[in-house]
Amino acid sequence: MDITGFALVTGAGSGIGRACAKTFAQDGAAGVALLDLNEQALQAVKTEIDNDHAKRGDRSCTVDVYPVDVTDEAAVETVVKKIVAKFGRLDYAVNAAGVAFKHEGGAAFAHTKDWQRVLDVNLNGTFYVLRSAAQIMLKQDPILSSIDGRPLQRGAIVNFGSILAHVGVATSTAYTASKHAVMGLTRTASEDYAKDGLRINAICPGYIETPMTTNDPVLSKAMAAQVPTAVPMKRQGRPQEVADGVMYLCGGRSSFVTGTALFVDGGYTQR
Ligand SMILES: NC(=O)c1ccc[n+]([C@@H]2O[C@H](COP(=O)([O-])OP(=O)(O)OC[C@H]3O[C@@H](n4cnc5c(N)ncnc54)[C@H](O)[C@@H]3O)[C@@H](O)[C@H]2O)c1
Repeated sequence: MDITGFALVTGAGSGIGRACAKTFAQDGAAGVALLDLNEQALQAVKTEIDNDHAKRGDRSCTVDVYPVDVTDEAAVETVVKKIVAKFGRLDYAVNAAGVAFKHEGGAAFAHTKDWQRVLDVNLNGTFYVLRSAAQIMLKQDPILSSIDGRPLQRGAIVNFGSILAHVGVATSTAYTASKHAVMGLTRTASEDYAKDGLRINAICPGYIETPMTTNDPVLSKAMAAQVPTAVPMKRQGRPQEVADGVMYLCGGRSSFVTGTALFVDGGYTQR
């Protein structure tokens, strides 16, 4: 996959972010910085990655743990600086931290605090990480592709949209708004830096089996109802299937891809 550089993954303690972190390490990244609110979960992911490497006996990838709240602008800036001080550069930033919420009764009855929390994590958190990462990436030398010497990037940022960055579903008021906004941020920022070799894309998962969807009774019920009728593949996706798309968007095989959305949704959005 031509993933040879240093990666930062938010939401790395669970679900899709965890799968992304593990895949970076398996596919040859030199280092992975794991960011999440949940420090215990981050330590568990680090142990899994370190054990995988020890078992395979291959070259290890440096794995560092950074507990951080992505809604804390100053904390995000500090952590990104620390990561770069340690790694020397930052090649891939993956914005997987996110929260989902359904407002009973929809927009007319949504509480401001719920709206703000979802927008804060999904949109503002993504913006803070993108901004800090882009400032670093724009200043560093491009890395060379190990595939065929094609012009390669100064950095790649992958933001997390969703099928709800493209369509709306009932009562997902703040979540749908946040994910549509993430697409807007992705498109405008990608245009700003396309000429500089900094690529910014979004991945848009469909219904994926993760703690986000399985631990919340409202979301898991909605997913169970939707999957048989609304997903042409008639199943939920796996975190690894999304991580594989993220690796494509970060690595050298997507060298001419920026400002786009990759839907990993079992066909949901083609209906
Ligand atoms: N699971 C799905 O069906 C699905 C579908 C479409 C999009 N997505 C998106 O994929 C991304 C990953 O979702 P997931 O299903 O793996 O969820 P998850 O709940 O399993 O993992 C999300 C992680 O984000 C972390 N997080 C939450 N708020 C944070 C904050 N303020 N600062 C730092 N970390 C924080 C959580 O601690 C958790 O470890 C999210 O952006 C989500 O919106 C998921």
